[in-house]
Amino acid sequence: MQGLRRYLRLLAPYRTRYAFGLLLLLATNVLSLLVPWLIKGAVDALAAAGASGQASGDGALRASATPRPFAEPEHYALALVVTAVVLMLTRTASRVVVLGGARHLARDLKNRLYERLLAADPPFYARFNTGELMSRCVSDVRIAQAVAAPGILYTFNALFMFGIAVPYLLTLSPGLTGVLFLPYPFLAALTMWAATRVKGYARQAQEAMDELTGHLSETLSGMEVVKAFTLEEAQAERFARSNDTFLEKSMREAVARGGIGIAATLTGGVGACLLLWVGGGRVVRGELSYGEFALFFTVLAMVLRPVIYLGWVLSLFQRGLASVERLDELLEAPLAIRSPSEPRARGPVRGEVETRDLVYRYPALRGQQRRPALAGVTLHVPPGGTLGLTGRIGSGKSTLLRAVPRFIDAPPGSVLVDGVPVEEWELDALRAGMGYVPQDGAVFSLTLAENVAFGRPEASRAEVLEALRVAALDKDLDQLEDGLETVVGERGVTLSGGQRQRLAIARAVLVAPRILLLDDALSMVDAETAVAVLGNLRAALPEATVIIAAHRTATLLGCDELLVLDAGRVVERGAPVALLDDASSRFHAMHERQRLQAEILEEA
Ligand SMILES: Nc1ncnc2c1ncn2[C@@H]1O[C@H](COP(=O)(O)OP(=O)(O)OP(=O)(O)O)[C@@H](O)[C@H]1O
Ligand SMILES: [Mg+2]
Repeated sequence: MQGLRRYLRLLAPYRTRYAFGLLLLLATNVLSLLVPWLIKGAVDALAAAGASGQASGDGALRASATPRPFAEPEHYALALVVTAVVLMLTRTASRVVVLGGARHLARDLKNRLYERLLAADPPFYARFNTGELMSRCVSDVRIAQAVAAPGILYTFNALFMFGIAVPYLLTLSPGLTGVLFLPYPFLAALTMWAATRVKGYARQAQEAMDELTGHLSETLSGMEVVKAFTLEEAQAERFARSNDTFLEKSMREAVARGGIGIAATLTGGVGACLLLWVGGGRVVRGELSYGEFALFFTVLAMVLRPVIYLGWVLSLFQRGLASVERLDELLEAPLAIRSPSEPRARGPVRGEVETRDLVYRYPALRGQQRRPALAGVTLHVPPGGTLGLTGRIGSGKSTLLRAVPRFIDAPPGSVLVDGVPVEEWELDALRAGMGYVPQDGAVFSLTLAENVAFGRPEASRAEVLEALRVAALDKDLDQLEDGLETVVGERGVTLSGGQRQRLAIARAVLVAPRILLLDDALSMVDAETAVAVLGNLRAALPEATVIIAAHRTATLLGCDELLVLDAGRVVERGAPVALLDDASSRFHAMHERQRLQAEILEEA
């Protein structure tokens, strides 16, 4: 029942469309039952004509006592043709309307899911992996669509057919109708039993599909690693195993669904046998006219088809139920990071960044608590200031940067922008004031210019070129065949790591942020160029607050203040020059080590 409510909630926005479609369907059903009624009239008319042609009336050829609409058999033919044409029109229209509704539903569902993914936070991504998300967004949506279109159409078709045909048959012959429907309770019981199995198997099959999709996407993005470690065979085996699981689960589901179909067909068949046996006897005894018998048989055939479909639809509903549950899990997963209903600050951002004893722990994975990634960081950067962050891998630099635009949710009051805790900021306004360059800059399948203008599509060509100059990517333009219009990313030219990083910087520069967060954003660029880019950035955005996380000490020398992190704590802080002068500082040691390495490399 709860599952049914889920469906209805999903369908609610399209109710007018569905109501109209179902009305057309009802008309179709009424019209289609006109056909056997006309046939009965025709048969009785023929029987009457035959009887009056013969000298004496034969008992078995008794005409029906019910009044007939037309006297002449030819008139029935004409009425049948007209009915058939109108019937075809209403049936097609009902299909178009309802199937269209399901297509709209699938489109809106995909959009909602996508928006959900955009809004999701780390706990969400810790819960669902890429494969699961992809298979839910594609394959579960397709199943939900199947329920909404053929599913609903066939269900109502069967209900309407029953609703009209059964009372009609009852008025003709209650006894015979009872015989016809004798096997149906048996069918209902069997279907209920099989349906719960279908749902269980369907869910398992979809879960196997998650694994398959996840495996595929991981292999595709890590193809070089797979080849470098000659893991092709092992990977292929893993894939084949997931694939087999999927096959097994979906075969079981198919068998359970097939069982429902067989039961429905058998039930109909048994009904037809009973009718022939019992009804045939009555005709012979003259209790039933030929027309009535023909009518019964035609109506039975017409009711039988929807009943067979109904079995199929019930199993489809069970499958759909599993999918709708899986979709709702995504749509209803709690989102911690959202804009407050009454924000205290709506921007524009001025650029002051502060943290107060910031502690952050990533969500537990499979029940395993993690140690805090940040264990009490306090810092303050005035508007226009430059802060450097360094420290060994895993020391918490990226985590700290993520807390500022609220990509992760730090405890309330521990991260402030312009003196207001970030969770009290209107989220879009907060993020609009920031430029964030991640460790591994993303490139979209767009032209270079479009990639740079991603955050501000209306930017002029001159602005894009200026951003490229600041990021020192302008020199690389000559290497690209179509310059600014070169399609880069997956479908085009694949950029080098250093080019990708500088592209990400150009993208951030173009939105003229008040706070620029650079997460090791120049690690793949040579030291000289990196320092030049940072100089360009300061000149291009003189008022922006800049926070730079980096391993390379040379890129941090221009900062106003420098923090050295270790295991989520600040272990050193001060002006870079002062730290360099202190021979006992970690920063001094890091710098010396890197300088020596560079010298050795140069000599080599
Ligand atoms: N998405 C995540 N989920 C769970 N734990 C994470 C996640 N990202 C980082 N961590 C953990 O948090 C700690 C801090 O990681 P963080 O990425 O902030 O370090 P970092 O200083 O940026 O390292 P690097 O120099 O390698 O970029 C590490 O122990 C890391 O394993
Ligand atoms: Mg990092």
